[in-house]
Amino acid sequence: MNIKVEKALNKQVEKEASSSQFYLSMASWAENQGLNGTAKFLYTHSDEERFHMLKLVKFINERGGTAIIPNVEAPKKNFKSIENVFQLLLNHELAVTECINQLVDVCLQEKDYTTHNFIQWYVSEQLEEEALARTIMDKINLIGKDKGGLYLFDRDLENASIQIEKTTVN
Ligand code: FEO
Repeated sequence: MNIKVEKALNKQVEKEASSSQFYLSMASWAENQGLNGTAKFLYTHSDEERFHMLKLVKFINERGGTAIIPNVEAPKKNFKSIENVFQLLLNHELAVTECINQLVDVCLQEKDYTTHNFIQWYVSEQLEEEALARTIMDKINLIGKDKGGLYLFDRDLENASIQIEKTTVN
């Protein structure tokens, strides 16, 4: 496997692993706040990021490279509010999209069209994840300080995570 592509893919393995840990920390925080729907959504999201990481690990190894399983820095444990959680999540996804775009650049520079093709799945996934994070932020902004709204929002997220689980399994 092309060394530069392998290095860039391994960097992405680390990014997905740290995303998974970050969302796991958010999920645990939400659970302790009694926001069970939000927690469920974030636990599912954390699992999804682990799946993104595994998919990269397997691809690197199958193509004759060596996947490197990284040390992951401990994520932030305390969050100011649910708004803070989802703003951080959106910012994080925007940063991940940037990394995926850089990965696409490396593939094109190195003329590795097979990896380029593989990475397109992540390009589409980022579009969906950014859109979902923006929709959630819009809802949070609509709710403002309304406690009843927060209750309904939390319930909605529980349903959203059930939908995500269904699509991830297939
Ligand atoms: Fe794997 Fe949310 O990016």
